[in-house]
Amino acid sequence: MNILLLGHGARENVIAETIRKSSYAKLFSYMKSNNPGIAALSEKIEIGSYSDMDKVKDFAKKNNVDFAFIGPEDSLSFGVVDVLQSEGIDAIGPVKMLAKLETSKSFTRNLLQKHEIEGNPKFMVFGKENIDEIDDFLNIIEGIVVKPDGLTGGKGVKVQGDHFNTKEEAVAYCKEVLEKHESVVVEEKLDGEEFSLQCLTDGKTVLSFPAVQDHKRAYEDDKGPNTGGMGSYSCENLLLPFLKKEHVNEALKITKKVVDAIYSETGTYYKGIMYGGFILTKDGVKLIEYNARFGDPEAMNVLPLLKTELAGICQAIIVQDLGKLKIEFKKKATVCKYAVPEGYPDNPVKNEKIEIQSSNAKIYYASVDKKQDGLYMTGSRAVAFLGIGDNLEEAEKIAEEAVSKVKGKVFHRKDIGTKELIGKKVEHIKRIVD
Ligand code: AMP
Ligand code: GLY
Repeated sequence: MNILLLGHGARENVIAETIRKSSYAKLFSYMKSNNPGIAALSEKIEIGSYSDMDKVKDFAKKNNVDFAFIGPEDSLSFGVVDVLQSEGIDAIGPVKMLAKLETSKSFTRNLLQKHEIEGNPKFMVFGKENIDEIDDFLNIIEGIVVKPDGLTGGKGVKVQGDHFNTKEEAVAYCKEVLEKHESVVVEEKLDGEEFSLQCLTDGKTVLSFPAVQDHKRAYEDDKGPNTGGMGSYSCENLLLPFLKKEHVNEALKITKKVVDAIYSETGTYYKGIMYGGFILTKDGVKLIEYNARFGDPEAMNVLPLLKTELAGICQAIIVQDLGKLKIEFKKKATVCKYAVPEGYPDNPVKNEKIEIQSSNAKIYYASVDKKQDGLYMTGSRAVAFLGIGDNLEEAEKIAEEAVSKVKGKVFHRKDIGTKELIGKKVEHIKRIVD
């Protein structure tokens, strides 16, 4: 079976590793830069831009691929699934219209509201025509979050207390956003602990992966600027220390209703990954956002635990047979830690060489370029190290030992997966929920 894999990061590196566990699956990988981890697992690679649809299409056709697996959201938003479908090639990943679940914050909030699906905070969508009404709305919400309605590479969302303080600043930022975007979503700030629930769907059935918690802030103790995610953990009972089974079920119920709502709204089935960013609050589980792809680093926590073959799951998604499959996971804890360039995310060093030492951790390459004389960082998160163990303590030790041995101008968060930091998260939930 020939499979086209699109993407060049650590997320696609772990997707490649998991697909290749099936001996019949051969990978043909299209990437923006040469990821040595993916290249080593592929029959053939092609380097190119994700917006060059003709190049993607030609590579897929030339290699007779049976289906495609789309890693990153920008490819989905360019409509790569629609292009491949027009050539008779199915894909794991939604068509452009349905990728709006990630690319348009207003689409998702309005969909939940229209279909009376629980999980929305109080919110309103503003455009140039109704921005004058914003003051009334700001008076009825407790804290403010402003979200540009479009892909902003995770950098457009501004939260009161973190990025601005006053209502006047919120209004000014909304007006600034409206110079570039058609609309802006303003919503109530939620207090709680965030978790990621990554699900697979064929448009009819939804199956979930274990819950994971990511760490977006660059520095220890959840301080500093937001990043793509510095590391993440999951537990051997497939829940999280602050999260009960009933909370995961609430999040799954929301995702199932969203899958049904998408079909009833559009008549098109959503096939692929639906990754919900949820937050446990005093009022139960609320939705922060959906992504139309796996999380990075969260994919690294869950895919290595999968006992069911991923290549088989993909085939079931394509023929809409997911209802007949049961997916199973190893009952292990995982901790993933990223080595990132000094100065990341605002002023990262670039083209600096790094050296990785051997360890018990799994290694997934991200923003690195393999040159003849070694591995160079390209400015974003460089290499992810995954520890797997019988409990969090064991998993954390493995990841920490590996990431701390990287030589070069890098840093990482020592606190991810430690008892101390997780204890703070449990206390936080106790304070707000009890
Ligand atoms: P998003 O791009 O929607 O995931 O937002 C980025 C980050 O902003 C999230 O991971 C949250 O930490 C924060 N955030 C987004 N929406 C809210 C909200 N309604 N309340 C509190 N924090 C939020
Ligand atoms: N870990 C956050 C993301 O993948 O969007």
